[in-house]
Amino acid sequence: MAIKKVFLTGLRPTAADLQLGNYLGAVGDILEIQKKKAPFFLFIADLHALTTDRPKVVAANRQKIAITILAAGIDPQRVIIYCQSALAQETLELEIFLSRHFTVAQALRVPTLKEKMRRPEQASLFLLRYPTLMAADILLQRATHIPVGKDQAAHLEVSRLLAQKFNRRYGQIFPIPRPYQTEGVKLMSLDGQGKMSKSHPQGAIFLGDNPETVRRKIRHAVTEVLDGPREKMNENVASLFLMARSFADETEKEKLKTMEREYYQGRLKFVHLKELAAGAVGRFLAEFQVQRAGWQKKTKLVADILEHGSQRARRHARETMDLVAGKTGFRPCAAMPNSQT
Ligand code: TRP
Repeated sequence: MAIKKVFLTGLRPTAADLQLGNYLGAVGDILEIQKKKAPFFLFIADLHALTTDRPKVVAANRQKIAITILAAGIDPQRVIIYCQSALAQETLELEIFLSRHFTVAQALRVPTLKEKMRRPEQASLFLLRYPTLMAADILLQRATHIPVGKDQAAHLEVSRLLAQKFNRRYGQIFPIPRPYQTEGVKLMSLDGQGKMSKSHPQGAIFLGDNPETVRRKIRHAVTEVLDGPREKMNENVASLFLMARSFADETEKEKLKTMEREYYQGRLKFVHLKELAAGAVGRFLAEFQVQRAGWQKKTKLVADILEHGSQRARRHARETMDLVAGKTGFRPCAAMPNSQT
């Protein structure tokens, strides 16, 4: 049986303004996938966020992330955008069926939970359900390709395991989801302190930064002393090139190629690279910020987009739950007024 490709991913809503590394990693992939023909489910993982944040905070943050992805150019005509909690009923129902086949011992072995579960008196029961909830998100839409970072690999393994177990026991329902790894853009912190991260704000560029701030941060970026030809590119320099290339126009891309050659020959002036990078990034951010300000005013439209996405996602989810009911022989009471299965 040919299995149809279905993309699905969840974004955890966080308070902080995204930094450019996250943006290129997560949003960049999403923008690529939306060009494909396959259905693409993209949801805001507000239920997962409740494992760590207060409900009020999660509710505020999910609005922010919705606006960010819309401003970034995600097209609600092509991508099914919704909130995880809009499908809480379907998701949690499936999670019950999945978690019946997942032992507490297995949950305690999931690397991301292991550490936290060392102090069970401080770990919530809900946290223990993180992997089964994620499996439910994925399997509910019978998704096949899951674009997530490496940090989610262990969770995805649980989804695969549960899909296989379920299929073996009840018959073929779920395609086995697999990670959809793209190149995984990695930007380095401009202050030379490893990966770009919001915990080193001086070395990170945020989506809300203005062009002067960007210029200043990039001007001070750590590079190297280029005292001769090079065989391999220094990773901080490579990160500057990557950043520049990601936002460059055609002319700038040509210039970057020349600069790369100059680098290997040992005669690149880093100021030129930095100037170009700052210009390209600054231009992108200015445009993004205009878009974002526009979406911030359109709260009704944002709500409508999420509502429309939820309806489509729910319809598809109900088909899955129908299949599950057929195979397991258990249909929730409310859905069987005539008391037949
Ligand atoms: N756990 C993911 C993260 O923290 C978010 C997420 C929740 C997710 N459900 C998912 C990602 C389903 C992919 C598929 O990033």
